[in-house]
Amino acid sequence: MNKITRPVATSARTVDEITGGRRLRRMRRADWSRRMVQETRLTVDDLIWPIFVVDGERRRDPLPSMPRVERFSIDVAVKEAERAAKLGIPALAIFPNVDIALRDQTGSHILDPDNLINRVTRAIKEAVPEIGVITDAALDPFTSHGHDGILRDGIIVNDETVAQVAAASVLQAAAGADIVAPSDMMDGRIGAVRDALDSAGFQDVAIMSYATKFSSAFYGPYREAIGTSGLLKGDKKTYYLDPANAAEAIRETEQDVIEGADMIMVKPGMPYLDIIRQLKDEFALPTFAYQVSGEYSMIEAAAANGWIDGERAMMESMLSFKRAGCDGILTYFAPRVAELLKG
Ligand code: PBG
Repeated sequence: MNKITRPVATSARTVDEITGGRRLRRMRRADWSRRMVQETRLTVDDLIWPIFVVDGERRRDPLPSMPRVERFSIDVAVKEAERAAKLGIPALAIFPNVDIALRDQTGSHILDPDNLINRVTRAIKEAVPEIGVITDAALDPFTSHGHDGILRDGIIVNDETVAQVAAASVLQAAAGADIVAPSDMMDGRIGAVRDALDSAGFQDVAIMSYATKFSSAFYGPYREAIGTSGLLKGDKKTYYLDPANAAEAIRETEQDVIEGADMIMVKPGMPYLDIIRQLKDEFALPTFAYQVSGEYSMIEAAAANGWIDGERAMMESMLSFKRAGCDGILTYFAPRVAELLKG
């Protein structure tokens, strides 16, 4: 036990002497003044909703590691897109859970114009043309090993992967994608996708670069959602970024900007707010955060246990992205945030 052996020293100065009369709490005194000085604001326009899709009809598969997130069949995804549009959410990002029988060593099914991601894109753009559709141009939902690249002799081969992702981007654009998001971190992918889109006549399709995608533990629940967790051998360290590296994140982003990225994204989000701020200041491009599955699930799990107020934590996390410099956030919370903002 700590025994106090000397009298506790209290300051000889008054608080006003200490602060020079500056009282920072004044503006926090009332709700009206807090609202008046609020620096960062969240609106529905800041939200992008990532959705998981699967073949079948009338399916809403619950995802055990992502409470309240469901995997939709195409018909349900269209209804959800309508709901999102009504809420004012500007865009969806689509992630397919591809039939295991269609996955192979090279992810060749990504080149099928009628694969799941292309079919759902077409269906949504047909029924709800006013909502933006972002497609993930990556091989991982299509490979039998869960990697984002073509795997040969234990190596993810860069250039062949880039060629395949570029070709797949054209198919996604043809299906109606407004924004293609190459997410595999291969070298040269942004320039190759831009060239491929342009030569196919898709000059107006934008590229959202997963400019800094870190090799992260926070993707766990996503891999369950698209069915790659059981498949993935090894890790993605030879192509995703080391979580320790901020300077490298700037170099990666600079390269994507040179190659033609229209917007950039940082992924995961909350553990990388410093990167978001640096990229926004450095490149002044539309900058997005992907609040990934593990971040979502952490908040949900703590809330389910009664350890935190889930709704407040959700909104606070959104504000943190805006404060860090984000123009928008990809988040599984999107419809709930939108509903809450609507009041
Ligand atoms: C890979 C990809 C990942 C996510 C989306 N696309 C990461 C991965 O599996 O390595 C993660 C999204 C999330 O965790 O919410 N192309």
